[in-house]
Amino acid sequence: MAGVPQPQSDLIPGCPRHVAIIMDGNGRWATQRGRPRLYGHHAGARRVREIVECCPIFGVDYLTIFAFSTENWKRTQVEVAGLMNLFRRYIIKETRALVTSGVRVRFIGDRVRLDRKLTQMMTELEAATAQNSRVHLTIAINYGGRDEVARATKRLAADVAAGNLSPDAVDEETLPRYLDTHVLPDPDLVIRTSGEARISNFLLWQSAYSEYEFIDTLWPDFTQAEFQRLCTAFGGRDRRYGGVRR
Ligand code: IPE
Ligand code: IPE
Ligand code: MG
Repeated sequence: MAGVPQPQSDLIPGCPRHVAIIMDGNGRWATQRGRPRLYGHHAGARRVREIVECCPIFGVDYLTIFAFSTENWKRTQVEVAGLMNLFRRYIIKETRALVTSGVRVRFIGDRVRLDRKLTQMMTELEAATAQNSRVHLTIAINYGGRDEVARATKRLAADVAAGNLSPDAVDEETLPRYLDTHVLPDPDLVIRTSGEARISNFLLWQSAYSEYEFIDTLWPDFTQAEFQRLCTAFGGRDRRYGGVRR
């Protein structure tokens, strides 16, 4: 099929190893069509599979997507309940494809405030895909960067109080071991759709040296071709990490 990325032939030179996406604009996409916001969230969820499928083709090993922030509870009860329902439906609908296509799924964020049925399904999906390693898909639900650092600090402080960790040993290698993302590399590229140029509490610690792409496309309109374009453009970035031009 013309235009559809092909396995092996479309590996992108200099492709980002870890891409993180703030999937924004579902509500506006629905409003533009005179439909309720949840219609946009459902359209947005359908985009995820296509983008995950591109990852092994382009050379992206890790994809992390922001699905629900610690601040998104401020929305109406109808929208919040609809999103939680959508997460359950997504897991039911996608489990088989994720397992068979070699995707390892992880969830980050605080599960305490999520309902038991959903957290159970999340744990089961993580277990069902635990042997996979073709692509690492991490889904952030009830995730906030500040909340994550606060929870990490609490656990770190408990280790200090228990005598398992010396305060003098705490450095910038120590704290990330307590973050939800402790098994993931830092994101190389962070993409935000919908024209907003802000981070909205996503991966605050981890994105210290990430490259950013803020694009106008609303998330339900984001295509494989646009993803390919952004991954290709990343290959041309000069990442200096505070040093001098290479
Ligand atoms: C992003 O789309 C998805 C979530 C935050 C759950 P929005 O729902 O924020 O869409 P806009 O920004 O209102 O258009
Ligand atoms: C960020 O989008 C959270 C997700 C995409 C899940 P928001 O729409 O919640 O962010 P703000 O409110 O525009 O900053
Ligand atoms: Mg938004």
